[in-house]
Amino acid sequence: MSKSSRIPGFHKMSMEERIKVVKEFADLTDEEMALLGKSSVLGIDTADRMIENVIGTFELPLGIVPNMTVNGRDILVPLAVEESSVVAALANAARMARSGGGFVASSSGPIMIGQIQTVNVSDPFAAKLKILEHREEIIDLANENDPVLVKLGGGCKDIEVRVVDSALGPMVVTHILVDTRDAMGANAVNTMAEALAPHIEKWTGGRVFLRILSNLADRRLARARCLVKKDAIPPGPEVIDGIITAWALADADPYRAATHNKGIMNGVSALVIATGNDFRAIEAGAHSYAARSGRYRSLTRWEKDENGDLVGSIEMPLAVGLVGGATVLHPMAKLAVKILGVKTATELAEIAAAVGLCQNLAALRVLAAEGVQRGHMSLHAKNIAVMAGAQGDEIDVVAQRLVQEGKVRVDRAEEILKEIRGK
Ligand code: MEV
Repeated sequence: MSKSSRIPGFHKMSMEERIKVVKEFADLTDEEMALLGKSSVLGIDTADRMIENVIGTFELPLGIVPNMTVNGRDILVPLAVEESSVVAALANAARMARSGGGFVASSSGPIMIGQIQTVNVSDPFAAKLKILEHREEIIDLANENDPVLVKLGGGCKDIEVRVVDSALGPMVVTHILVDTRDAMGANAVNTMAEALAPHIEKWTGGRVFLRILSNLADRRLARARCLVKKDAIPPGPEVIDGIITAWALADADPYRAATHNKGIMNGVSALVIATGNDFRAIEAGAHSYAARSGRYRSLTRWEKDENGDLVGSIEMPLAVGLVGGATVLHPMAKLAVKILGVKTATELAEIAAAVGLCQNLAALRVLAAEGVQRGHMSLHAKNIAVMAGAQGDEIDVVAQRLVQEGKVRVDRAEEILKEIRGK
């Protein structure tokens, strides 16, 4: 008989009790049990306060990308990621971008959008104007909710009102545009949006439904550009046309754009995770921004300048913060911010954009030159060797043989391991 996952009061149990329940449910061994209920860095009590029903913590490797220059400053970029090749590829591409002075980054400022949906309005266009007539009042009412943010120079700065055609007819959607300074801003924006709801109902006669932040943070854009000298890009200048051809497909074809942008997010999300930020918010923002024209397109652009050098640029929403949540609770996130040497969320966003562009340079260069498998395979082969049971020096020996033979498979790794252990 299958076991029931309906466990009344699971959230009220102590961590030890929860672990016991999971042990029984999943038949965990003592060895597996030893992985639970502890944390080396975050601290199990902090973890237990961060989310619900905690039974342990989950580690990722933290790697450092050297060679990056952003706005004339040399930085080391910490990345938390499970995928091999991401860190190495970024380090390589960052070195190439140094030929043109590294990355130049800028941003629009940290403006987040909160949405207030009003339904049951028979005259939506008149309602839109009624809301706009209260612009100053709305800004003041919103800002009453966050005097600290206002004191820091942030707060609600403006509003806009849209009439959105939906499956249920027109809806009036009010946007509050909130400068959230160094916070990601979801809490501040949601609080303001909720406080405004009764006022908007009063003015429009409609019913307010959703009051929530938009992750399409297109008023919180970060931008980066770089120039790679034609003789600084291996195997040679001819690869530049290949990179531009690869980019053109991503810009024209959503099937390729998904992979192209996924690669960009390999770098961006890994930095976002390392700094304790909400990577789902960043991913949602990136992909919805990539589709803003009605077609899902590339987040980057690659061109050739008059000297034949490669010029790349990126623009994407980057709603990252330095205050609040895991960014301050997680000791590793604080350390990552210190390694980066950033003082503001905007600086962090600009570096993230540069990292995204840098990763795209790395990926397109490899795709246009030798294909990804060669590079991927050597690190992948090491993982396969470990999976086959290789230890210490055996790992490199087995991995090398796997790559040489072009058979990066666990069964072959086991055979090679037997062979070298037999000797
Ligand atoms: C793999 O994680 C990322 C790439 O597929 C990105 C790309 O194709 O541009 C290499």
